[in-house]
Amino acid sequence: MKYQLKHSVLLVTVFILAIISCSTKKHTLSIVPDDIVDKKIDSLLAIMTIEEKVGQMNLYNGFWDVTGPVPKGSSSNLKYEHLKKGYVGAMLNIRGVEHVRELQRIAVEESRLGIPLLFGFDVIHGLKTLSPIPLAESASWDLQAIENSARVAAIEASAAGINWTFAPMVDISRDPRWGRVMEGAGEDTYLGSKIAKARVKGFQGNDLSKNNTIAACAKHFAAYGFSESGKEYNTVSIDNVTLLNTVLPPFKAAVDSDVKTVMNSFNTLNGIPVTASKYLQRTILKDGWNFEGFVVSDWASINELIFWGHAKDKKEAAKLASVAGSDMDMEGYVYIRELANLVNEGIVEESLINDAARRILKVKFELGLFEDPYRYCNEENQKEMIGSESNNEAVLDMAKKSIVLLKNEKNLLPLNKAGQKIALIGELASDKNSPLGSWRLASDDNTAVSVLEGMKVYKDNSITYTKGVDVFLGKTSFISELKINNTDNSGIKEAVDLAKTSDVVVMVLGEHGFQSGEARSRTSIDLPGLQQKLLEAVYEVNKNIVLVLQNGRPLTIEWASENIPAIVEGWQLGTQSGHAIAQVLYGDYNPSGKLPMTFPRNVGQIPIYYNHKSTGRPNNSQNNVFWSHYSDKENTPLYQFGHGLSYTDFKYKNLSIEQNGTSSNKKVKVSVDITNTGKYDGKEVVQLYIRDLVASITRPVKELKGFELIELQKGETKTITFELTDNELGFFNNKGDFIVEKGDFQVFVGGSSITSLQDQFTL
Ligand code: NOJ
Repeated sequence: MKYQLKHSVLLVTVFILAIISCSTKKHTLSIVPDDIVDKKIDSLLAIMTIEEKVGQMNLYNGFWDVTGPVPKGSSSNLKYEHLKKGYVGAMLNIRGVEHVRELQRIAVEESRLGIPLLFGFDVIHGLKTLSPIPLAESASWDLQAIENSARVAAIEASAAGINWTFAPMVDISRDPRWGRVMEGAGEDTYLGSKIAKARVKGFQGNDLSKNNTIAACAKHFAAYGFSESGKEYNTVSIDNVTLLNTVLPPFKAAVDSDVKTVMNSFNTLNGIPVTASKYLQRTILKDGWNFEGFVVSDWASINELIFWGHAKDKKEAAKLASVAGSDMDMEGYVYIRELANLVNEGIVEESLINDAARRILKVKFELGLFEDPYRYCNEENQKEMIGSESNNEAVLDMAKKSIVLLKNEKNLLPLNKAGQKIALIGELASDKNSPLGSWRLASDDNTAVSVLEGMKVYKDNSITYTKGVDVFLGKTSFISELKINNTDNSGIKEAVDLAKTSDVVVMVLGEHGFQSGEARSRTSIDLPGLQQKLLEAVYEVNKNIVLVLQNGRPLTIEWASENIPAIVEGWQLGTQSGHAIAQVLYGDYNPSGKLPMTFPRNVGQIPIYYNHKSTGRPNNSQNNVFWSHYSDKENTPLYQFGHGLSYTDFKYKNLSIEQNGTSSNKKVKVSVDITNTGKYDGKEVVQLYIRDLVASITRPVKELKGFELIELQKGETKTITFELTDNELGFFNNKGDFIVEKGDFQVFVGGSSITSLQDQFTL
């Protein structure tokens, strides 16, 4: 123990802990066997009062930033008083070594037992050096790159004193109206599970006790992504089959990757607010999956049980949430007020409190905080690591990999590097703030490289910029509603005049960085404000348009998709955004991203997702109206899941299927040849989908069950082999059993969910 100890009780504790530690000296902290850590925790719990144990279950927001409504009763004085009493287990929204050190000092030097604090922060896509928003990163389908990106985020966060990130968000969602799709991996469970694993690994590394690895948090458990009508904080009603097969697997993947914490969520699930769901938190997570970490509530979600009409007051809310398995109360003031009394009155069993406190203390042990509570507090490290050149290189690399080429008619892209007169149009083209996306509390405003700056690096073209229309009005912020200009179109004329005299027009249109993220649901996902008008006006005078989208969710851009020859999905790509986009536009980087989420034609199609079920009337075989369709719009999406082009071309052939393994454990090998038949070297995400044709529970028309990102030089051919085992072939039935049913399966392989090759096998 390197820190000063003040109290005799603590000395006794430390003495006990030291004896236990001495007997395991040969172990580093990270590999101290669980039973030793458990004994240390037993010793500690034995001397803790009930109030101190409940204190571990109390998570307070810091003193500067808020990421939710400020609750009644929150005050700085109270927080300091509780810190000194040892009634706080963790804090959020504190960053910077100086601040962390001071608060940690109060906890370890002024409280009776000196138990160190956890410091949590929403490190969603980087701390200060920002990588693309998670949805964009997911478009890379590059698991190693995604892991590296989380690693960089952990390196910066830990250097700023943070030891716990509220990421990854692993919510599957099929509704782009929901603003938080920007934070997840999109609509697909298989891809989402792989990405969950990569992100947990990136944050936590192989050794949690290192001072540059941090505890991760899989959130929001569960089904938050299915919020009714895409409206934030809303009701969720889904069947158990969807829950088990679609929603939960990414959480299971995170738990299997040893994620240390899980956050519950604001929604209900089939009538029960999930913060009070014993089924989710105990039956599934803790008992079913043997999750040994702790569950943190979402911001005040325990208190919100009252507003849901599920608890009559704070006392009942505390009881319901603790019994259900929510271990820590985030900025809700419910546990700290009620829980000790509930135990003293015999309403809540003390064993539940012991279990929760044990889980929290365990994570602190694993992080090495009992050995050195200031291990994340190194000023030198902070200076050196945050915003370093190598971090910037890493996020640039990730940004390029995240870009998706949606359309490229007549090879308008890549642009010539010299001799072209280019008009650059759109407010977002010069915006240095918006590409940072949402969840970027620790980064400075206006620090992204804009598209204008990125393109100016290519000096041999003439680039003239005009914004066209103002889109976003006033000062934008993480906590306030965005104002959009829907009336003033006075700048359109200048844009049109410029376009008339240009060879190519690059238009950067889309959403503001604060238009997606938490509490940013939209009923329309068209281009906001007058951007569509601007696009159409420019198109009237110059058809050579490259549309660069900057957005945090799929948008409805049907007109653009029909008329504009080249469309690049440039998301919100973080600090190096403009360089990444420019390098793709000029062909220095050949795009290989694939959509992790379907683009609908209009909002009426939502939810639209590739792995839907069939219906009893799936097609128009009799040429009348009696089939499952809309009378005013086709069933197909605008851009399908997995879609993304390259500057080169790939041909798929020789699909072959081979079966082996035992009859009880069949293995199916699927092979395919891919050739780069185009003019550039390039990368391709080879995707494998299956369909279980007849089953006791209806199965999706297609499901991703394998993918591989490959690199092919011009003219090169590679053979890729996938293996399908029970894991891929089976599913959860209504009783919650995972079953594999014999019968016929279709196999599809190609470069998107609409594949070129198809075959079949019988299990
Ligand atoms: C509420 C959000 O839902 C959650 O994801 C986040 O981690 C917390 N606020 C803390 O900021």
